[in-house]
Amino acid sequence: MCSIIGYKGQLNAAPLLVNSLKQMEYRGYDSVGIAVINNGKVIVKKGVGNVSNITDKFDLSTMPGHAGIGHTRWATHGQVTEENAHPHYGCTNNIAIVHNGVIENHHELRDELISLGHRFKSDTDSEVIAHLLEGYYTKKDIKTTTIETCRKLNGAYAFVAAFEDGRICGSRCDQPLIIGMLEGGYFISSDVLGFLKHTDRAIFLHNRDIAIIDSNALQLYDFEGNAVNRETTQVAWEVSSLDKGKYAFHTLKEIHEQPTVVEKTGIKNLGKIEEFCNILEDPRTVYITASGTSYHCALIAKYLLSSLAKIHCETIVSSEFPYILESIDDSSVLLAISQSGETADVLEAARAAKQIGSKILSIVNVPTSSLARMSDSFLEIECGPEVGVAATKSFTAQLSLIYAIVDRMCNYGLGFQANRKFLAEASREVLDQESKIQIIADKLRQARDIYVLGRSIHYPIALEGALKIKELSYIHAEGIVAGELKHGPLALIDKNTYVVIINPDDRTHCDNVVSAREIKTRGATIIGISNKPDEAYDILLKLPSIGNSILYPIIEVLPLQILAYYLALIRNIDPDYPRNLAKSVTVK
Ligand code: F6R
Repeated sequence: MCSIIGYKGQLNAAPLLVNSLKQMEYRGYDSVGIAVINNGKVIVKKGVGNVSNITDKFDLSTMPGHAGIGHTRWATHGQVTEENAHPHYGCTNNIAIVHNGVIENHHELRDELISLGHRFKSDTDSEVIAHLLEGYYTKKDIKTTTIETCRKLNGAYAFVAAFEDGRICGSRCDQPLIIGMLEGGYFISSDVLGFLKHTDRAIFLHNRDIAIIDSNALQLYDFEGNAVNRETTQVAWEVSSLDKGKYAFHTLKEIHEQPTVVEKTGIKNLGKIEEFCNILEDPRTVYITASGTSYHCALIAKYLLSSLAKIHCETIVSSEFPYILESIDDSSVLLAISQSGETADVLEAARAAKQIGSKILSIVNVPTSSLARMSDSFLEIECGPEVGVAATKSFTAQLSLIYAIVDRMCNYGLGFQANRKFLAEASREVLDQESKIQIIADKLRQARDIYVLGRSIHYPIALEGALKIKELSYIHAEGIVAGELKHGPLALIDKNTYVVIINPDDRTHCDNVVSAREIKTRGATIIGISNKPDEAYDILLKLPSIGNSILYPIIEVLPLQILAYYLALIRNIDPDYPRNLAKSVTVK
């Protein structure tokens, strides 16, 4: 999603801004720009491309000035063009802004501003902010200028503005904005990774806060104009964890981090897991909500909580949550699962449930995220920053935490805590089949469709495997409940079809073998993921046997991730940055 950054201090702003944008590249973007303030002028340079290309093209790093703003854009309103790239000026070059989020009433504001004589240069919703600031701007009172502007805006947004007099100002409303504190300067950014190389001291602005960085001093206000104090926090993440190490891509590195993730996730948090369990055991219904990959974890959570911990659960994709609001009340608990903790759909669901009076629990990777902050209690998956756009290690970390919670609720009868080391070793064994999976990927390189089948607790893994294949390789893939095959999808199966069956030796095994035979009769190629060979499989990806079969999802997702990764490589696709996708989906 869009990244925003601002800097004011003793150093040259431009090289810092460029570096910050590079650190945030993982969030996804299509165009780049910066503005620096020098000698009473705000100078903007921007274009379509990646940070390195635009930096070279416009020699961004040499732009002089001690204050500036920068942006990477992920297009939502308006095409990917130079005009639509940020920063945006108003009519004059006195002020430039960068923005993340959506201004819902931008059409009305644009008409109103045009009637007042403003001229627009882009198709973005963001440009209205620059014109509004310009309209209210008086050199004396930047605070009122910003507050008046925010009062006009509807939507979820964060913006940073550079003013000709050298001041930088930022404002947030339902989108993150964080101050990085330096000796002799400040950053203001949508992501701590924007400044973590320089400082780990941060202030997380509250919703409806305004920050003004003026003559190297920071002033914070709320939208009513009251001065506010916000606590300084030390950020725990290490920038070094952003290195690819010996791996060609972040995605591959993150896939290989999973054995450690399985072994460690939640170990430090046993006390907090206890608190979580107490809240979960109480309510009439637990609603579990999430998007994308995190939703697949939610499906497994529902299965485990309802069948083993006997908690009444419902699972709902976050974007659908607004349509079931009538069924929840103040005796419900909402469990929201989100790697980023900033996904707009998830946040909206949590806000709505909170307003009704439900308790909010969350599982996040970013403890300072908006979701964590609004929760009654949250647990961290602690897998470190996930840079690859496709979620891999965060999924197994979420799963591990869910297993740890349910294990505790079942008096450790699930055997997850007791078997962590064994599961980590089993994960390594699966990952050791990487070269075999690479050969399979080569066979599937021209596939038109790949179907991934599973039953019961393995069905969410089928969905997750299909999602990974789709987003990384752009091959159509579908996760299907194996038992549903004969109710329709079998019509699609012929000798050109590839089917992956997730089939460990548990109570779903025999029925899956029957499904495999039905598919085989129709000439499709079958890849079995199992600890038990069967003649129906053309290829077997071997799983180590696990004592408690309910733990298989943790290891059976791994071969699917590697398959998706190699399909991307073979098809010449960058697995870290698939087209049209962003790491953190902060717009609805
Ligand atoms: C898929 C993927 C997305 C995210 C989804 C939710 O690989 O990464 O489907 O899982 O956008 O993101 P979070 O978990 O940050 O809420």
